[in-house]
Amino acid sequence: MTTLRLKQGPAATRVLGVGSYQPERRVTNDELSKIMETTDQWIRDRVGIIERRFAEKDELLVDMAVTAGHNALADAGVEASEVDTVIVPNCTMPSPIPNAAAQVADRIGVKAAGAFDLNAACAGFCYGLGVASDLIRSGSAGKVLVIGAEKLTDVVDPVDRANAIIFADGAGAAVVGPSDEPGIGPVAWGSAGDLVDTIYMREHRFIYQEGQSVFRWATTQIAPIAFRALELAGLEPSDVDVLIPHQANLRIVEAIAKKLRAKGAREDMLVADDIRYSGNTSSASIPMALDHMRKAGTVKSGDVVLMVGFGAGLSYAGQVVICP
Ligand code: UT7
Repeated sequence: MTTLRLKQGPAATRVLGVGSYQPERRVTNDELSKIMETTDQWIRDRVGIIERRFAEKDELLVDMAVTAGHNALADAGVEASEVDTVIVPNCTMPSPIPNAAAQVADRIGVKAAGAFDLNAACAGFCYGLGVASDLIRSGSAGKVLVIGAEKLTDVVDPVDRANAIIFADGAGAAVVGPSDEPGIGPVAWGSAGDLVDTIYMREHRFIYQEGQSVFRWATTQIAPIAFRALELAGLEPSDVDVLIPHQANLRIVEAIAKKLRAKGAREDMLVADDIRYSGNTSSASIPMALDHMRKAGTVKSGDVVLMVGFGAGLSYAGQVVICP
């Protein structure tokens, strides 16, 4: 019988560096209230957003991903030539082909990269990180660039007050590589396809979501995923230094934090609130929040970071990461 040779990678991986990018244009709640029936107060109270960033017409998802990818490589001190795989989690490329990843890899200078997009909507970055880590551990990849990038303004009706006040544009990236000590815990992921009709975009038109149904689901079903990610990593809630849930709504973020604290997470656990100045950037929101918190000096190297993403599908994923 013929036996195939298999590859075996290192036992552990870690995030080597992170980076992000946001478009220049800041859009305040007051600006939105001039084109739709809403108020600054309603948005702050119900969603927690103070302002968000919108890309210009000619600034594409791929452009934002390239800059975030460059920034993550610089942060990691890794050359593009050391990377062999590029994953771009997103759900807003203008059409299914071509994908974003091959163009992004080429423009960053990653030659002949394994390159693919990954669509798990707002859970995309945590899915991508899990896949990257396992590709390295299996020996299929050496160093992987994972870039969550979204241009949600392309897929939101600009005067739909249910969605236009929430979604925004941007990109967040992480370089993943081998490690002596485990720096990325096992991914806890799953889906609830029976709830598919609660968030969708038909025939590449605009996003529709049943806000209240998704809100109820997120505030009840996502904390258990965070607990599962901790359990898989062999940690307790009290070990978490930083909680970064997908930045969908500050009230959802706070509800997840409350559930973790009820089960032993510390009062001084830092909770990401990047949505306040970035809006909901789907698969970019978690790495962007981490990058902003590191730059602000509130998160430091070695901190235990618990990430959990959730969104259309419905899909969810979470894992523990040691901050680079
Ligand atoms: O990222 C992917 C995953 N997505 C999520 O996790 C989103 C989850 N859902 C949410 O975050 C919230 O449901 C929304 C932010 C989308 C909506 O907030 P809400 O507190 O659930 O509002 P609602 O839809 O229950 O609407 C409450 C009221 C309604 O008025 P009446 O019927 O009570 O008179 C709405 O018409 O607020 C009204 N409303 C608004 N008022 C001012 C809805 N949108 C707006 C608005 N400005 N932009």
